[in-house]
Amino acid sequence: MTTKHVAFFDTTLRDGEQSPGCSMTTQEKLTMAHALEDLGVDIIEAGFAMASEGDFAAIATITQAVRRPKIASLARAKQEDIEMAARAVQFADRPRIHVFLASSDLHLEYKLKISRQEALDRTAESVRLARSLVDDVEFSPEDATRSDRDFLVEMVRVAVEAGATTINMPDTVGYTTPAEYGKMFRDVRERIPAVDAQGVILSSHCHDDLGLAAANSLAAIEAGARQVECTINGIGERAGNAALEEIAAALYVRADYYNVETGIKLDQLYPTSQVLGNIITFKPSPNKAIVGANAFAHESGIHQHGMLANPLCYEIMTPSLVGVPKTNLVLGKHSGRAALRHRLEELGFSLDRDELQHTYYRFVALADRKKNVYDQDLIGILPDEIRAR
Ligand code: KIV
Ligand code: ZN
Repeated sequence: MTTKHVAFFDTTLRDGEQSPGCSMTTQEKLTMAHALEDLGVDIIEAGFAMASEGDFAAIATITQAVRRPKIASLARAKQEDIEMAARAVQFADRPRIHVFLASSDLHLEYKLKISRQEALDRTAESVRLARSLVDDVEFSPEDATRSDRDFLVEMVRVAVEAGATTINMPDTVGYTTPAEYGKMFRDVRERIPAVDAQGVILSSHCHDDLGLAAANSLAAIEAGARQVECTINGIGERAGNAALEEIAAALYVRADYYNVETGIKLDQLYPTSQVLGNIITFKPSPNKAIVGANAFAHESGIHQHGMLANPLCYEIMTPSLVGVPKTNLVLGKHSGRAALRHRLEELGFSLDRDELQHTYYRFVALADRKKNVYDQDLIGILPDEIRAR
């Protein structure tokens, strides 16, 4: 069986930046764009050209400094947006315009106040206009997962006929479930044979309102999506977008199951996460998969003992695989003698059995009082004669 390529479309600089505490200057976006290029993403959505002069400038700057990935600008299905997006990406080696228009009745009625027919007409006109300006056009029926399925299929058909090269079906409000999202991709492929016949790429775009964004993205890939939209550290509107590092690591660790290849350099995941964390106003939470401070930390005695015997006992990937410097055996009240001995040896103290037992009691008493036991605390509880050795 041939291994299929899944393209990573990073929207940290557009959907990610659109969330509280995440706005970036042009220089900061450029720094991130270089990090994303080094990470190996296929497409960078650099911004929404019509949103502001700053966004336009950032996109244009990135197109001239970052050459390997495709560079995209978002545009509403409006002539002025599409023309502005085209100007912003005009110097990219491989420019893309990403046009979106809502497909759910809720959005058509309350937000856009247009009929379904008007939405179909605008889809055709705007995709055609975008295709007259660039060769690579992505179309997204916004709120796809809450749209009437027949109408969604109709809108996708119109976009494909008008020349869209990628169809992205967003779970705009993080509402869908893996089985349901996968079925949507299968339905569209079955009901619009031109999608596969013409090599139109299907793409997932998931939000994390129910904590299902990565699972839903993986379900879409199983159902034939060949592009996945995501952000570093999962930043994005509300609860965020699907986290790039989670999807990339899952596709690698479970390659036996997914059987797809990507261009992501896994050992750049943690460094890229750090670059972003130092630019925006917050870091990933400690328990964030792959890149959180605790993702490779172990405190309980049973786990630490297993880790020292064989890391595979409690780690499904090595920290170095994703660029994390090392496993962290944290000493706390749940730790056992094995981890204490290991840490003391790292600090240069070799204790015999009785000394270790004695030190262990003092350590547990300290750990009961303190949330974190640091190296200096450990050295402090050692008897003078051991410290002097
Ligand atoms: O979540 C969403 O629907 C979007 C679109 C603009 C693709 O971000
Ligand atoms: Zn989104």
